[in-house]
Amino acid sequence: MINLFKNRNFKAYLLYSLISCLLFTVQLEAQTFAKNGMVVSASELASENGAQVLKSGGNAVDAAISTAFSLAVTWPWAGNIGGGGFMVIRLEDGTVTTIDAREKAPLASTPTMFLDGEGNLKSGVNHHTALAIGVPGTVAGLYKAHQLYGKLPWKELLQPAIDLAQNGFPLTYSIARDFEGFASEPEKYPEMQSYIRNKKGEVVQFGELWQQPQLANTLKEIQSKGHKGFYEGYVAEKMVAYIRKMGGIISKEDLKQYEAVERAPVHTTFRGYDLYGMPLPSSGGVAISQMFNMFAQLEETPEFASVQYYHYLAEIMRRAFADRAIYLGDPDFLTYSVIDSLLTDEYAAQLFSTIEPHKATPIDSIYQGHFNEGSETTHFSILDNKGMAVSMTYTLEHGYGVKMHAPELGFLFNNEMGDFNAVPGVTTSQGQIGTAANQIVPGKRMLSSMSPYIVTKDGQPFMVIGSPGGRTIINTVFQTILGVLAYDMPINKAIESSKIHHQWLPDRILYERYLMDPATRQALEAMGHTLMEVSNLGRLMGITYDEPSGIISGAVDSASPDGGVSAY
Ligand code: DON
Repeated sequence: MINLFKNRNFKAYLLYSLISCLLFTVQLEAQTFAKNGMVVSASELASENGAQVLKSGGNAVDAAISTAFSLAVTWPWAGNIGGGGFMVIRLEDGTVTTIDAREKAPLASTPTMFLDGEGNLKSGVNHHTALAIGVPGTVAGLYKAHQLYGKLPWKELLQPAIDLAQNGFPLTYSIARDFEGFASEPEKYPEMQSYIRNKKGEVVQFGELWQQPQLANTLKEIQSKGHKGFYEGYVAEKMVAYIRKMGGIISKEDLKQYEAVERAPVHTTFRGYDLYGMPLPSSGGVAISQMFNMFAQLEETPEFASVQYYHYLAEIMRRAFADRAIYLGDPDFLTYSVIDSLLTDEYAAQLFSTIEPHKATPIDSIYQGHFNEGSETTHFSILDNKGMAVSMTYTLEHGYGVKMHAPELGFLFNNEMGDFNAVPGVTTSQGQIGTAANQIVPGKRMLSSMSPYIVTKDGQPFMVIGSPGGRTIINTVFQTILGVLAYDMPINKAIESSKIHHQWLPDRILYERYLMDPATRQALEAMGHTLMEVSNLGRLMGITYDEPSGIISGAVDSASPDGGVSAY
């Protein structure tokens, strides 16, 4: 068993934790410890609502539902009912399953809907117009998870979010700053102007109670009618009317047909641990499994943050991302089945054998990856007192999605259609990928990088982890799990440790400012790598469980402005 408390006085921590169990939330340095259950999310208020559900006898799925709806109120940046996402669930009996609530392309969509008459991408159309809105999946996914695995009544689980929307909550500094930004550019964000204002028509300020009565009504409709409260009836009608008015193509039929799907997880093993991730249409499970399988080929574990460490990681990432671009898309639409072959040890060994120990692999392909993604998704991790765990990542794609909301409904719509390959067959050095696996087809789900993960050890839950960050998600989740499994790091250390990102093309390693020393950078450059500094990679939300002591540890990435751990 990994020593989670390696660099600490374990007994003192245990004693502190036991005494602190009398309190609801235990905060100690960057880690929180508890004995019963824990929720780690991008909003302290949402974590508290989730933990309260656990405390009242709800299971991890119940807590996930309450946390997700609360985030839709308190973290409008990415918490949502107008977007989609993925949930990995470990059940009490040790079975692991997943719920796919990814958005779908509307029935009226076409592979060339974002092109002009000459076959070129119309600038911004796939991200900044109502055509970018995919059929939302979040509510269907949460409802399905509840039907299959929930314990407490659905109505009870929505009430805390309704209260937050109805009564308001003090607006946080980070959201208030975003609101000021929207207010300062009304021509660019016309549809956000009503969203960010209070009853008096003034922009809601930091610390002011932000009430969202329209959102409260929408949530009440979902509370009383479940799935149908969103996909049929007045919410569906108003949604379609607004999207159509804005030039979008989502119809009532699209909403009526939407179903979340339960899918088997992608599973791999690493050093005695079982790793479970999302299957397609998320590329996370496949890519992360491939990366662990390749890392396992190393004869010796490189010293953490050494030149060899970064070199091998970048080469492993490069190979997994190349396969991602070529092969991965919505499994319901793929006409081939190579996925199982991508996950074998033989294939990992074959890929690994092409890595030169002291030289970067030269670019040998025309494919060019996008790099236009930020950290606008959100992840939460939950563990309950029966060993049930939920790892959920959901998103509007960009921060505040397409920046449009139906005023009577009070929630923001996604711009997830931008995750499809926009120009069929055209892959350019400017950043378009045109491969068939992820082209638009009516009813198809767009490929995602969201990578909620659950790790188990000897049949016990061990780690629940995930992050926002577009394509960087795959790499930051991989490195955080690796930090704990291969480098014995406690969860907070693994979350905060140096991360890099390589996505095949553009051929460069992104590294986090302050976290890689100049000599290491120079040595990597001498091997043929190109490096680029970024301010941050990932906003991880993680939990680990130490089975012998029964202690749960959790941590929020310090890059998360409003995040919080709540536990008991
Ligand atoms: O599903 C995906 O992979 C992306 N839409 C996630 C977006 C994200 O993490 C934030 N950045 N755009």
